[in-house]
Amino acid sequence: MPRAKPSSRSPSYSGAKSKPPVPKRPARPKPRAASKPSEQKTRSEKSTDLTLTSLLASALRERTFLRLVLSQPLSKSDTALSKVTVRLIEVGGETKYQWAARSHSQELHENLTADELVVQTKSVFGVNFGDAHLFTTEADLTVRWNYSKPQKIKRKPPTQQPSEGAGHNRQKQYLIPAGVPCPFLVEIGVMLPSGQVRPAMYHKFRQINRYLEFVEDLLPQLPPTGPIHVVDFGCGKSYLTFALHHLLTTIHGREVRIVGLDVKTDVIEDCSRIAKALSCSGLHFQIGRIENFTPESHIHLAVSLHACDTATDDALAAALRWKCEAILAVPCCQHEVCQALGRQTLPGLTEYGILKDRFASLATDALRAQFLELHGYRTQVLEFIETEHTPKNLLLRAVRRPDAAVPESASRRQAYEQLKEVLGLKQWHLEAAVLGAT
Ligand SMILES: C[S@@+](CC[C@H](N)C(=O)[O-])C[C@H]1O[C@@H](n2cnc3c(N)ncnc32)[C@H](O)[C@@H]1O
Repeated sequence: MPRAKPSSRSPSYSGAKSKPPVPKRPARPKPRAASKPSEQKTRSEKSTDLTLTSLLASALRERTFLRLVLSQPLSKSDTALSKVTVRLIEVGGETKYQWAARSHSQELHENLTADELVVQTKSVFGVNFGDAHLFTTEADLTVRWNYSKPQKIKRKPPTQQPSEGAGHNRQKQYLIPAGVPCPFLVEIGVMLPSGQVRPAMYHKFRQINRYLEFVEDLLPQLPPTGPIHVVDFGCGKSYLTFALHHLLTTIHGREVRIVGLDVKTDVIEDCSRIAKALSCSGLHFQIGRIENFTPESHIHLAVSLHACDTATDDALAAALRWKCEAILAVPCCQHEVCQALGRQTLPGLTEYGILKDRFASLATDALRAQFLELHGYRTQVLEFIETEHTPKNLLLRAVRRPDAAVPESASRRQAYEQLKEVLGLKQWHLEAAVLGAT
């Protein structure tokens, strides 16, 4: 196949070996800066974090990329490129991105790596083409070049799915694979009875699998034989509780006793109905508040996913009290620290509402991580799902050290106390909940 390398100096892409179509100046009014790629970059990055390049890079990194179409040529020249289509292909057992560039009468192909694709796309978008359609397993994204303004991005539910044998067979294998009917995913509407993932639910499907990977990593911390006892605090509709049950029982063949707890009567009734319909042995749902729950026996794994505000702290406090082997928590909205911060607590930061709010959330999770460490838990703060969907996507994963009784480190205690001091906190919810119980 003919292959034309993009020039590293020019922002425009030639697309043909012999007679490269030289794009004329765009027909649309073009501000001075649009001819200089370095200025284009600065301008778009200044005005918004999200650009076609960042979305594309993230789709390639997350392996959600399906197809890219560049259209709306900015030049009317006969030799100018009219359209570029990029799709996944397998070449010699490797995933490549086939860049098919169409000009008046011919189509030229070249096979690119992911990095090359990002560079090449960046070099033509806003120079040769004004529109881009990025199809991923998560969403259909339309990006419009907007000269001096931020790129216009529209997001719609995904309409396309990975096709067999088009590079995606080299994708990471999910713990619950697409294409194989999984009863609970069919029941909750993520899969069709055939096993095909509904396009609009692909994001949920990935989130469930990602969650299971975090649990999978914890398995060595849980008892190697006998039943595994789990509580899922604030289970809500329980997508992830059913997923956890599926992982432990169907995939790992373990006996379990899992309780999904929530204050909402209707969701608990619904979950109980589904658990019964699917004959999920060892899975029970219970109405109740986290802070009042008493387990029937020792809990090995405590889970709290998106439990509102200080409910996460109540879940962590319970797990610490019960000395659970492992804890998984994805905090949700958090108001306590934000309310404690004054405009002048950290001048220059806390005077801006959004910054104060985000800082307070991060500070709260830092406090939680430190507190867990101080109580004998090796703690990680991980990214649960892509920040594209929500900034509240951190996962705290904590594993009880075998020597949990070892005296706490003085420097860690000092760091924790200093953080509290900076935040102007004397005591906060998790600390109070644990101290109140001792
Ligand atoms: C945002 S939903 C998350 C549901 C589920 N864990 C998930 O990640 O999809 C939070 C749930 O926590 C429940 N919840 C909040 N505070 C609670 C408390 N103190 N005790 C029990 N459930 C609580 C709410 O009723 C709600 O169903």
